[in-house]
Amino acid sequence: MIKINKENYLFILETPNTHYVFGIDDAGCNRHIHWGRKCPADDYSICIGSDESSNNTMLDEYKQEYTPFGLTMYRECDIKAQFSDQCREIQLAYCDYAADDSSLSVRFKDTHYPLEVVLNYRIFPHSDIIQRWTTVRNTGETEIRFERLFSAQFSLPSTKPYTFRNTNGAWGGEFVETATRLEGGYAMWDSRKGATNHGHSPHFIAAQNADENTGDVYFASLAYSGNFKVSASRDSFGITRIALGMNDFDFSHTLLAGESFDTPPVYCGYTQGYGEMTRQMNRFVTEHLLPKQFAQTPLPVLYNSWEATGFDVNEAQQIELAKIAAQIGVELFVMDDGWFGQRKDDHAGLGDWYVNPEKFPNGLDALIQAVNELGMDFGLWIEPEMVNKDSDLYRAHPEWTYHYRHRDACELRNQLVLNMTRKDVQDYIFTTLDTLLTKHNIKYIKWDMNRPFSQTGAENLEDPKMYSYLHTKAVYDIVDKLKERHPGTAIESCASGGGRCDLGALSHFDQAWTSDNTDAIDRLAIQKGYALLRPTKTMRAWVTDISGINKPCSLDFRFAVAMQGALGIGGNLSHYSSTDLEICKKNIGLYKQIRSIVQFGDLYRLLDHDTDEVSLNQYVSADKKESVAFLTARGTRFYKKKIPICFGGLDENTRYTLTFQGQTYKKSGAYLMNVGIAVHIRGAYYNEVILIQAL
Ligand code: GLA
Repeated sequence: MIKINKENYLFILETPNTHYVFGIDDAGCNRHIHWGRKCPADDYSICIGSDESSNNTMLDEYKQEYTPFGLTMYRECDIKAQFSDQCREIQLAYCDYAADDSSLSVRFKDTHYPLEVVLNYRIFPHSDIIQRWTTVRNTGETEIRFERLFSAQFSLPSTKPYTFRNTNGAWGGEFVETATRLEGGYAMWDSRKGATNHGHSPHFIAAQNADENTGDVYFASLAYSGNFKVSASRDSFGITRIALGMNDFDFSHTLLAGESFDTPPVYCGYTQGYGEMTRQMNRFVTEHLLPKQFAQTPLPVLYNSWEATGFDVNEAQQIELAKIAAQIGVELFVMDDGWFGQRKDDHAGLGDWYVNPEKFPNGLDALIQAVNELGMDFGLWIEPEMVNKDSDLYRAHPEWTYHYRHRDACELRNQLVLNMTRKDVQDYIFTTLDTLLTKHNIKYIKWDMNRPFSQTGAENLEDPKMYSYLHTKAVYDIVDKLKERHPGTAIESCASGGGRCDLGALSHFDQAWTSDNTDAIDRLAIQKGYALLRPTKTMRAWVTDISGINKPCSLDFRFAVAMQGALGIGGNLSHYSSTDLEICKKNIGLYKQIRSIVQFGDLYRLLDHDTDEVSLNQYVSADKKESVAFLTARGTRFYKKKIPICFGGLDENTRYTLTFQGQTYKKSGAYLMNVGIAVHIRGAYYNEVILIQAL
C-alpha cells in the first residue's frame, strides 16, 4: 500500500514487513526519512535542520532521496548535468505526484532550467521488495548533457558502521564474497569492461549484527548488464549512503529537446537476516522479472558438449554422446562451440553462423532429428556479439566492430566486439538468429559473450560514452524479439561463465551459466555467492570431469553440488563406465523428483563449507510439505563430526518423515529444527541428499 500524507508531503511505501518513507521539505527539496521496520504512519515527520557551521552545511548532512550536484552539497551526488549555458548546478523543487495502490511517481523541476526529474517507485503484493528508478526529461529547446545519472540513492538508518557484502571475483572464480566494514570515506564496486563482468556485483548488501536469521540487512540490486557503479559512503556524522546506477567513469548522455530517459531499475529490500533476503529475492525475481515463458516451469536436465568435445564436434560423435545422454535421463542436448563457419579453435569462425559442412555434411537437422528421436530437445551455443578477424563477416564488414580508425584493434581470445549500437549490426544478428530458430527445431540457445569491450568510440555513435548502455539495450531488445517470435525457445546468458547474470540479464534471459569453473568444491562458494540475490532456478550447474586440485571428487559428490541449481551434465559420457552411468541415471532420476523443490523452494543456508567444514543447504517447498537438504563435506578433521544436523524452514507443528543413513525418522518440524538428527560425517567427499516429507 502507498500512503500519502498530503498535508506534510510525506510518502510511505508500505510492504508486508517494512516502511520506506520520504518527503518534501519546506524548500521543496526531497528528503529521505526512513527505511526498515514499520512505525505508526503518523509519527513520521521531516526534521528541519540548519547549517552546522560554515564547514558543515545542512545539505551535506541531509538524507536525500536523490541528490543533485551543486550548491553547498559536497558529498556524492546522483545526478550531474551541464546546461546549454555551461551551468553545472541542478536545483530541484517539488512539483506533484501520481500514485495508485502499487506505484508512485514524484516529479521535480529545476528552478530555472528545463529539466524534470521523476522519482519512481513500485511495490508488489506479498513482497518487501521495492522497485525504484529515475526518469529525466528535457522540456526545453536546447540540449542537456548528463555526466552522471544514477538510478537511486539509499540512506541507512543507523549511525553505526555497516558491513557491506559484495564480490571480488574473476573468470573461473565468480561471486567470491568480500566483507567490507565501512567506517568512513567511500567504498566502490563497479564494472568498466562494458558488461557486468566477473569482478564485482551490481548490488549492495549492508548489514549490522547479521547472520542468516537475524540482524538488519539492507540490500538493492541494479537490473543492468552494462558498466555499473555501486558507491557507498559514511560521513563524519555517521550517515551511510549508497548510490547505484550506470557507471559514470566514462559516461555522458545528451538529452535533446523534448527527450526523456529512464534509468535502469533497482530492486531493494530490508530483511532480518541474510536468509530472508535470499528467499525474498528468489521469489520476487522468479515471479516478476524472469521472462514469463519459462519462469514457472521447472528447467530440464541438460547435457552440454563443451567440456567433453571442445571445438572438435561432428555429427557421429555428438549423436554418440546424445544416445548415452538420453539413456541416463537427460532432457535437453546442447551442442556448444565448434559447429559453425571455419571454427577449429578460437581463431576463426565467430560471425559466420552457418553449419560447418565438413563436420556436419548432412546439415544441422540430421543431428537435431537424431536428438529428437532419442526423446530430447536440442540446444545450440552461439556468440552473437562477437566476430573473429578470420571470418567471412569480418572480411565483409570490418567497420561493424568497435574500433578507432588510427589504432590497432585489441583482440582478446582472437575476437572483436561487434558494434551493437548500429542498426545494421542489430538487424544482422536478429535475422541470423531468427533464421536459425525458424529453420531448425532449436529449443534452447546458449548466448555467450567472451570478452570485455575496447576501442568503444565508434564513429557512428552520437553518444560514444553511452555505448555500454546502448549495446546492452540492443542485446535485451534482440533477446525479447526472438522470444516473441520463438516462444518455445529458452535463452541462457553466458559470458565466459557468470560474467553477465545480473537482474537486468535475468529480466530477458531465462537462466545463466554460472561459471566455467565446474569443480565441485569451488562451486560451493561460487553457487553461494550467485544465489544470494539471484534465483536458484536460473543457476545452471553441471557435473563434469574437471580435474583440478580438488580431484578426486566422487560422481555422487559432484551431483550433490550440481543438483543445488538447475542440473546439467558436461562430462565426456563416452568415457564413463557402466557403473558411472548408473550413478548418473540414479542421480538424474532423483533430481527430477526434487527439482521443483530446489528450483522454486525457499533456500536455508544452514552450514557453510568454509566456516563449518560441512555444507548444509536445504530447500523447502512453499507449503512446507516437502523439503530436500544437501549435506556435503570434502573431509573432516579430527574425526569429530558426529554432529546433530538441525534443519530449517519447516513447520514446527507438522510431523515429517525422513530416511537417512539407513534409518527412518518420524519427527515434528520443531524437533528437526531445534534438536536435529545426529550424523556421522566420515571419509572424503561425504555427501547425502536428504528428502523430508510431511506425513
Ligand atoms: C565460454 C563459455 C563456455 C563455453 C566456451 C566455448 O568460455 O563460458 O561454457 O561455451 O565459451 O567457447
